[in-house]
Amino acid sequence: MRIALIQNHPRFGEVENNLNGLLTLIESVEADLYVLPELCFSGYQFVSTDEVRSLAVDPDGAVIGWLRQAACDRNAAIAFGYPERSAAGCYNAAMVVTPDGRDLRYRKTHLFYREKDLFLPGDSGFGVIEWHGLRVGLAVCFDWYFPESFRTLALKGADVIAHCSNLVMPYCQQADLTRALENRVYIATANRVGTEDRGGEALTFTGGSVLVSPRGEYLLTLPKDAEAAEVAVIDPEIARQKKINRYNDIIADRRPEHYTL
Ligand code: ACM
Repeated sequence: MRIALIQNHPRFGEVENNLNGLLTLIESVEADLYVLPELCFSGYQFVSTDEVRSLAVDPDGAVIGWLRQAACDRNAAIAFGYPERSAAGCYNAAMVVTPDGRDLRYRKTHLFYREKDLFLPGDSGFGVIEWHGLRVGLAVCFDWYFPESFRTLALKGADVIAHCSNLVMPYCQQADLTRALENRVYIATANRVGTEDRGGEALTFTGGSVLVSPRGEYLLTLPKDAEAAEVAVIDPEIARQKKINRYNDIIADRRPEHYTL
């Protein structure tokens, strides 16, 4: 299975331009699963809930339809983050769309920093969707900081975690090595680049998207400051083998009776 990391530089609020840029990056490489960043066509640094609402989209609407169409055209799954509008308010959401018209929907569980003033806390829980024999789990950016997020996806059977991100701290790309090892899963962290200076605060996104193997190896490392699209081949069977030697199985050997939740 070929996994593509798509790393873009969205311009805040320029939804159509940003979508066109993403589609150009997607079309530049051949893959079975494309992983795009968090809030990948809206931009990140919203200044009010009204502004979020003005750029948030309906998961069944026309904007997401562009990405559904791209999945059909390329016969590939696409994972991406977007601002989701609902009757109750807006969510920092992500979705995996497949060419056969299915999708997996996710609302970010762990909101970061000012996101807490702007979005509703996610209520979907973590999920996994199967596409062409590959089990894809979905997480958004700051979820990585909570080991329970990727553990839950591993326990739900994910082979690869599509981790749509807008990282501003420098730790995740290294922490992914540990998260991948401790769960024996592939992690595809698709990050963005660029700076957004809005609402009196500038945020610079750290780029450096990574694809990490269940053995704790970098399969892809993208540049820190430029748009990019790169592909690597993965073997889901490696993620399904939770035994690390004759004695140890990292899932079966857990001792939950000694853990505090
Ligand atoms: C983040 O969750 N966007 C850092």
